[in-house]
Amino acid sequence: MSENMENIIEISNLTKYYGSLFWKKKKPSLCELNLAVPEGSIFGFLGPNGAGKTTTIKILMNLIKQSSGEALVLGFPPDNIEAKRLIGFLPDAPAFSPYLSAAEFLNICAKLFGIPSAIRKKRIAEVLENVKMTRHAKSKLGGFSRGMTQRIGIAQAILNNPKLLILDEPLVGLDPHGRQELKDIILDQKARGTSVFFCSHILSDAEKICDRIGILFESRLLCAGRLDELLSETGSKLHINPGRDDIVKELLSAATETVKRPDGGWELSFLKKEETTQALLATKAKYGDAVTITGFRESLEDFFFRKIEEATKSRLEETL
Ligand SMILES: Nc1ncnc2c1ncn2[C@@H]1O[C@H](COP(=O)(O)OP(=O)(O)O)[C@@H](O)[C@H]1O
Ligand SMILES: [Mg+2]
Repeated sequence: MSENMENIIEISNLTKYYGSLFWKKKKPSLCELNLAVPEGSIFGFLGPNGAGKTTTIKILMNLIKQSSGEALVLGFPPDNIEAKRLIGFLPDAPAFSPYLSAAEFLNICAKLFGIPSAIRKKRIAEVLENVKMTRHAKSKLGGFSRGMTQRIGIAQAILNNPKLLILDEPLVGLDPHGRQELKDIILDQKARGTSVFFCSHILSDAEKICDRIGILFESRLLCAGRLDELLSETGSKLHINPGRDDIVKELLSAATETVKRPDGGWELSFLKKEETTQALLATKAKYGDAVTITGFRESLEDFFFRKIEEATKSRLEETL
């Protein structure tokens, strides 16, 4: 690992245009991305289809070259062989030879990684155990479900005891049980000291396992940071006692969500903004015990769609 490494991944002004110079697309598929991923974290790189997640991962894995900007993985440029040995990678929709058994396939991978023959068998048994596939060791990959294939994909990625795991949509196409198992495998990797960078458009799963996230939308990063900080106290709720519809009417237009409770009272939600905080405090001063204010945490899903909506609005304004 590079001695002056501060972050396991460091990306600055990374931009990618597909196509040759002459036929170059007008819009970049990745635009001026800046991102730092500290060691030891599970980082969720989130965004809708076509946002540029796979493009970023391909640059990190040296499968394609950026048009401009820089990426450092474990302190090294992506084409560094030393760094490659410390990275485990699960590509988007992996396709493995259907005629190989799980153990045969992992044996080929282990040889490619240069794992000495004396410990190869033991290591393959260990990773199969890690991904709960021991009893399928001798089964052919062609007969595997999407979930089993994904687990074998993870098994090959962790064969080499990587410092960093890069996973492209590891949870896609799995049923809830399969997703849970895969999340447990990712958490287990973190507990062993491996940093994980994965991309996903499944937000509820990301919320459960990530320490940090970044949201990419139409080639640009909207925000990145610690999940608990991004979601902390993003809004306030005002609880209004039954029989006080007069207060509800006064605040209705500013609320993002209005819910009538079974007891006839109301619950109004507000996003945290300077003006709304002032207005809510004024309401409390005016109506006293008839209202109660509490803070609330947005779900990652609400946060994600709010950020995307804000970005869509501001980009639309830019083009007008
Ligand atoms: N090989 C390619 N040639 C041309 N355009 C591409 C290529 N790969 C991806 N793109 C385009 O780049 C954008 C980002 O794609 P991608 O990185 O695959 O997004 P994501 O993984 O977030 O769904 C999309 O508009 C996609 O059509
Ligand atoms: Mg993708």
